[in-house]
Amino acid sequence: MKPVISKKSRDFKRRISPVRQIMMYADPIHFKTLGLKPENVISFAGGWVNHRMPAELQKAYKDIASDDELMHLSGGYSPTLGLQSCMEALIKYEKHIYGVSGLESCHVAIGANSTQLLFDLMLVLVDPGEKVLLLDPSYCNYPSQITTATNASIVRFPIMDVDTWEYNASERIDTFVDYIQKEKPKVVLLTSPDNPTSQVLPHDFVKAALDAVKSIGGFLVIDFAYKDLVFDAKVPEYFSWGPTDNFLSIHSNSKWSRSLGRRLGWIEASEEIVQALDSVQSSTTLSPDTLHQMALERYLNEAIKNNTLRPYLENVSNDYKKAAQYTVEAIKEYMDVKCFIPQGGLFTCINVGMDGGVFVEKVLKESGVLFVPGWGFGKTLKNAVRLSFGPLVYDLEKISEGLKRASSFLKKS
Ligand SMILES: Cc1ncc(COP(=O)(O)O)c(C=O)c1O
Repeated sequence: MKPVISKKSRDFKRRISPVRQIMMYADPIHFKTLGLKPENVISFAGGWVNHRMPAELQKAYKDIASDDELMHLSGGYSPTLGLQSCMEALIKYEKHIYGVSGLESCHVAIGANSTQLLFDLMLVLVDPGEKVLLLDPSYCNYPSQITTATNASIVRFPIMDVDTWEYNASERIDTFVDYIQKEKPKVVLLTSPDNPTSQVLPHDFVKAALDAVKSIGGFLVIDFAYKDLVFDAKVPEYFSWGPTDNFLSIHSNSKWSRSLGRRLGWIEASEEIVQALDSVQSSTTLSPDTLHQMALERYLNEAIKNNTLRPYLENVSNDYKKAAQYTVEAIKEYMDVKCFIPQGGLFTCINVGMDGGVFVEKVLKESGVLFVPGWGFGKTLKNAVRLSFGPLVYDLEKISEGLKRASSFLKKS
């Protein structure tokens, strides 16, 4: 008799996952079935960065790889929550760039990446039946991460006005606080800068959310995957918050140092949460990658000492800022539809005035241009698509060519 896999994984397989759908659309085999030449397709689908990693980080890997003893050490398990020396370097970086104070190694849990860390964190924070509050729109992977890790229910707060296409978090503070008090979520999960809108949440909004969460005995979690890609020179005050009983943050190396494939992330949280993560993480990853921790630690210590870390981050942010401005201009010129003005990160969203899923399929087939349908980010983006300028950061002409090609379809529809 053929055994059956679990109900949870069968259900998971049945549901259309936005992330799986993006992967399917972006598959060159899919392009060929549509009669497209993969090399002619312009993709705005990739949620990845394309700048060069810091040269000193590359050197750190080289130095380790060319030293027999260090390379041997990198082949050993690290402690479950990471190497003490790497935690100290991360603390130094948070202090140097953002002025985070009061952060100690007992508040840091290094993991394989922020995707795994969020999954483990949900196991630590949430009991079955409790609620997790997400903004609508927000990162399309959260719902499946949350519900696979726990049987929590997800509640959504619409942060934009679908009719006017305005995203003004400051104007929604009171209704957000009322919503938190009514729904009593165990966790409020925010992202800043955000995926898919690239908005940076204002300090007042985040502070009010923290106060509301405190009053109901919940947690405010900020996913800082794009923390170092903010376009304004001045970042909001909460970027310098250390963890408390009610506040914690998730960080990733993927974007700022272009280490998407060299997986490494960390959580800054209260000592109690970090200790609980120690138990959970020992069953999920056992320990984070040693080589990446060793290289990152060497790099951060050197770059802070030599004062090269801040200029590197400023240059990188500037490159994405230019790409964002170019993209918004090209949207205005060729499409004349509403979009968000990015404040950081890699994305904007376009109001296409029709079902975003239908738009994506048609525009790919007819123009060879790929966007991501908005539905996976929440109901507010049903008639929208996400555009990523990350992969094309140094290929700006392709951005205008892609938008020009897509616009002829928009006019036809
Ligand atoms: C908001 C957000 N969080 C987390 C991640 C995943 O980060 P990591 O590479 O650390 O798993 C992404 C990736 O696109 C993201 O957009």
